[in-house]
Amino acid sequence: MKDFVLDQPIAQYITDHTTRPDALLDALAAETRQATGDRAGMQISPTQGRLLTMLTELLAPSVAVEVGTFTGYSSICLARGLRGGHLHCFDLSAEWTAMAERYWREAGVADRITLTLGPAVETLAGFEATIDLTFIDADKPNYPAYYELIMARLRPGGLILVDNTLWTGHVADPSRTDPSTQTMRDFNDLVIEDPRVTTTILPIADGLTMIRKND
Ligand SMILES: C[S@@+](CC[C@H](N)C(=O)[O-])C[C@H]1O[C@@H](n2cnc3c(N)ncnc32)[C@H](O)[C@@H]1O
Repeated sequence: MKDFVLDQPIAQYITDHTTRPDALLDALAAETRQATGDRAGMQISPTQGRLLTMLTELLAPSVAVEVGTFTGYSSICLARGLRGGHLHCFDLSAEWTAMAERYWREAGVADRITLTLGPAVETLAGFEATIDLTFIDADKPNYPAYYELIMARLRPGGLILVDNTLWTGHVADPSRTDPSTQTMRDFNDLVIEDPRVTTTILPIADGLTMIRKND
């Protein structure tokens, strides 16, 4: 994913001053482009990936959850930050996640990841462990459902990260009234009005929301 919100020179400057992805992540990004074409744009950016690894290292979750795995870029970034914890990945696509599973093995993180295929609302509804860290990056209309299901299982002090929340900047443009933009605005309003959390939006890539469940 490229940067949609920041001016390109600033976005490039940040990329240039963010620790580079390694050869494995570069190879995964290249293979994803080759195999999925334009859909490769769904992948998180290297800057986001670096942030996911650092936040995972800092939070040291026992249980991390990813909703929306695709070909595995963000899951590898999360899994690499784990220090003894486990990552549960939820996705619909056996085809795309087959590439993820191959790269998990190559990255040496396969033993710390469990993949569940199926609609993530159903998977989350049946998930019983207490969650420390979540990354949500799947179908946008279900974001409120994912948020509520995760909040019910998130420990106090736990973190939810949500991708695409600035929606190419359209959320802040009143002339944009299309349903996708409104869906994201409604989600952002739901979060800021929730007294259970403290939240902010980082303007990298397409907007990344950080939500901490209050103690
Ligand atoms: C934006 S991509 C995820 C990109 C990934 N985080 C990465 O960095 O490569 C969204 C993913 O959500 C999955 N998805 C869409 N709707 C879903 C649903 N209802 N339940 C589970 N997964 C879903 C898609 O199959 C797709 O792989």
